Amino acid sequence: MTATGITHQVQSQYERHPYPGYPLWIPLRWQDGYIGASAFSRYLCGEWRESTSSSMQRPFLLAGCGDTQMAILRNLEPASQSMIGVDISPRNLRRTRLRMWRSLRPVDLRESDLQSYLTACMNESFSHIDAYGVLHHLPDPSATLAEMARCLPPGGTMRLMVYNTPARQWIQGIQQVFRSMGLSFHDPAHVATAQEFLQTWCHLSPPLHQRCTAMGPSILRHTGRFVDTFLHAREARISPQDWMQRLAHLGLTPAGLLDRYGEWDAYPNPLWNCPSAEEMEKRAKAGAFSQNLELFLCKQPGLTARTTQVPRRALFSRLHLRTPPTLWFSFPETYALPLWQRMSIWWRYLNEVYGGKISELSPHIPLSAAQRLARLGAILPRGLSPALRTSLEAPMQEKIHTRERMPAAKIPPRDMRFLLDKAEIILRNQKNLTPRRRFLLGRRIEAVQYLIEK
Ligand SMILES: C[S@@+](CC[C@H](N)C(=O)[O-])C[C@H]1O[C@@H](n2cnc3c(N)ncnc32)[C@H](O)[C@@H]1O
Repeated sequence: MTATGITHQVQSQYERHPYPGYPLWIPLRWQDGYIGASAFSRYLCGEWRESTSSSMQRPFLLAGCGDTQMAILRNLEPASQSMIGVDISPRNLRRTRLRMWRSLRPVDLRESDLQSYLTACMNESFSHIDAYGVLHHLPDPSATLAEMARCLPPGGTMRLMVYNTPARQWIQGIQQVFRSMGLSFHDPAHVATAQEFLQTWCHLSPPLHQRCTAMGPSILRHTGRFVDTFLHAREARISPQDWMQRLAHLGLTPAGLLDRYGEWDAYPNPLWNCPSAEEMEKRAKAGAFSQNLELFLCKQPGLTARTTQVPRRALFSRLHLRTPPTLWFSFPETYALPLWQRMSIWWRYLNEVYGGKISELSPHIPLSAAQRLARLGAILPRGLSPALRTSLEAPMQEKIHTRERMPAAKIPPRDMRFLLDKAEIILRNQKNLTPRRRFLLGRRIEAVQYLIEK
């Protein structure tokens, strides 16, 4: 397919299934988006970046903003920070406007293909770029990444989330199964059939069920998320090592990797010491690193200044009235922390990242909890004593939190037969049934099952 064809297909997918597509009346817990705020990336990258006040005045670009991200991040940015959201789907942008109808803060939403939009931008147009889950859906991710790098000034920052290709082999396998059945995102009946088939498969295969629910319990039911994962029009396959090489080539230095699931507990804090490309690749291939690559990048490090200037907010803002991000206290080491301690960690974070005011870390926080919080960005290294910094940087003392894989449980032959029969019925209903297609579909289903049980 040509680049235009791919872009058209992707646009048509998001027009039918906006992302993430949560109901418009649902209030967003926008403080949970703290990690996407430009202040977070700037502060994390601060030790490397040369920041000038003029670079701060440049806009923040939200590349492929979907239908909620602007509504979330606009609340986390100072009112003086201008923001531009670009998305190829008019429906996503309409939904963003509806979510933000009461917001007094101006936003600039542009309906455009990202590559075309960036090509028309001047060098060094943005101070920060957020590209969360978009590059791997483009016809030429490298070309767009290069444009994004060009549009950042030295010291500019970026948050990039891209798929961890080696860890998604089983998802790619399921995508192939649906393609062989002739199912696509275009037809709501096809989507419902695919959902029902995968639900049955999960019912028969507990390891598959575990993998799907690890991606969020709603993945099998929520149409937008289901299509985005299993029926996507385009998913470029680029390994972590390739991404890291491309970033290095463009002068984008990774400051850190967010470890949402405690997969790097046996290693030094990856948010403060980004693992090497080889390590990521090795662990991804071994199945020990399955989350997406969520990287914080800085353009051309090693310049002169070692200070950070972030657009300052008042030391007390409406952020202080929110409860802290849920991610921080969803781990065994942190969920026992009492509310007063949670609030004090949150306020300390806000005062430091937004106000530049660093205060002592409470000595009452257990070490394992502080280590976990440091891995999630709730505690940042600046201002810590060297001893505390070293202990928060170190591998977790006890590897408490792990997403243990289920012991390999083979699907019984009778259940496999049932699944293959069901697949055959779908193939027949799609008027796609030939002996060859039936044979290939069977082998694809078995191959996915093998990958899951491995
Ligand atoms: C998986 S969603 C991520 C949305 C958002 N970043 C988030 O995290 O909620 C991918 C988004 O990229 C947009 N997109 C895909 N291809 C694009 C392109 N060529 N140009 C601009 N936006 C694009 C889609 O419309 C969709 O909103």
